[in-house]
Amino acid sequence: MTTSPLRVGLIGTGRISDLHAIEYLQNPDARIVALCDRDTAQAKSKAAAWGIRDVAVDDDIDAFLARPDLDLVEILLPHHLHLPVALKAMAAGKIVSLQKPMCLNLEEADQLVAAAEAHDRPVKIFENFIFYPPVMKARALIDEGAIGTPLSIRIKSNPARSATAWEVPAAANAWRQETGHAGGGPLVFDDGHHKFALAWHFMGNPSEVHAFIGDCEGPGGIRFDAQSMVSFRFPGNRVGNLEIVYSPGMELMTQHYAQDDRVEITGTAGVIFINGGHGRLGATPPVTLYRDGALTTYDVPSGWEHSFIQSTRHYINALKTGGAPVLTAAEGRQVLRFALAAEQSAREGRTIRLDV
Ligand SMILES: NC(=O)c1ccc[n+]([C@@H]2O[C@H](COP(=O)([O-])OP(=O)(O)OC[C@H]3O[C@@H](n4cnc5c(N)ncnc54)[C@H](O)[C@@H]3O)[C@@H](O)[C@H]2O)c1
Repeated sequence: MTTSPLRVGLIGTGRISDLHAIEYLQNPDARIVALCDRDTAQAKSKAAAWGIRDVAVDDDIDAFLARPDLDLVEILLPHHLHLPVALKAMAAGKIVSLQKPMCLNLEEADQLVAAAEAHDRPVKIFENFIFYPPVMKARALIDEGAIGTPLSIRIKSNPARSATAWEVPAAANAWRQETGHAGGGPLVFDDGHHKFALAWHFMGNPSEVHAFIGDCEGPGGIRFDAQSMVSFRFPGNRVGNLEIVYSPGMELMTQHYAQDDRVEITGTAGVIFINGGHGRLGATPPVTLYRDGALTTYDVPSGWEHSFIQSTRHYINALKTGGAPVLTAAEGRQVLRFALAAEQSAREGRTIRLDV
């Protein structure tokens, strides 16, 4: 069904493409053969940095998708381009991996799900946080019964500052400030997708969502949708929340975005702490379990790049073995609906019911 190695093309060679490239560059079952970006100088310099100098570079998405030597396209574009480019990629017969959020609203999501389900090749919505090794460890512990039945998930996103953070180009921030391009705020909707995906991964679909969304000046004069608080209820008397706080004067450790992410999952018999995400506060252990009066720590790879490596590796294996992508388009729609409910709740000042 698929060529081996898979011939991969990236559409969009902006900030996040560096982390997408890693597994394709090292996995023997895949090979990056072409790059597409309207900024071809940037695409060429990425190719050089990744050591793939013989790669084809295109500035036109239609011409790129017409290439017969591409099996899989990884779509890494601003959100308003997700639906049209994903539809074109499917029409061109490609295997598709589309970055989160799959699109801007549920009408678009319905179109994408219908097209993906009619497409005869797999379509993945790329959500890496659920493949972050500390998250995978927490999930394995929960599945073994380590905390009993999970009753609550508490997620903290804490953007701050970091001398070691990677540089984010002004252009990557600019489209995120436009609702028509981004679909929602940079922290609650865009980065929030990962946090809603975590809540969904550990607790399932919420029945109710309520949000307060703040507004403040972020780094470089951009607007941040902080301080914010989203709370959710799940069927079976289970709850959760996402709290977003910007701490401009707090230094943290990261190689990527200047943001710390912490998760606490409380069950009937214990608590699991995931002590980081993009970054961390000092040398915290990646995962801590409290149970029966004792704390146990787990040391698993905690660089954020591992979430991309594991997610891409899972897809390449799924393509080889016929397994389902994670997320499917239908699952991507569930996470999108969760994120959109938070935006709608704050806008309308009311709780949004998702179980009706
Ligand atoms: N999974 C994660 O943790 C994560 C993190 C960051 C970004 N993302 C997602 O990745 C995607 C890209 O984000 P980014 O931060 O890399 O953005 P970016 O702005 O750095 O990169 C987007 C790239 O698309 C190119 N582009 C825009 N319009 C184009 C067009 N019409 N034709 C060709 N090229 C075009 C731009 O030149 C740019 O290089 C978004 O969907 C974002 O939500 C995911």
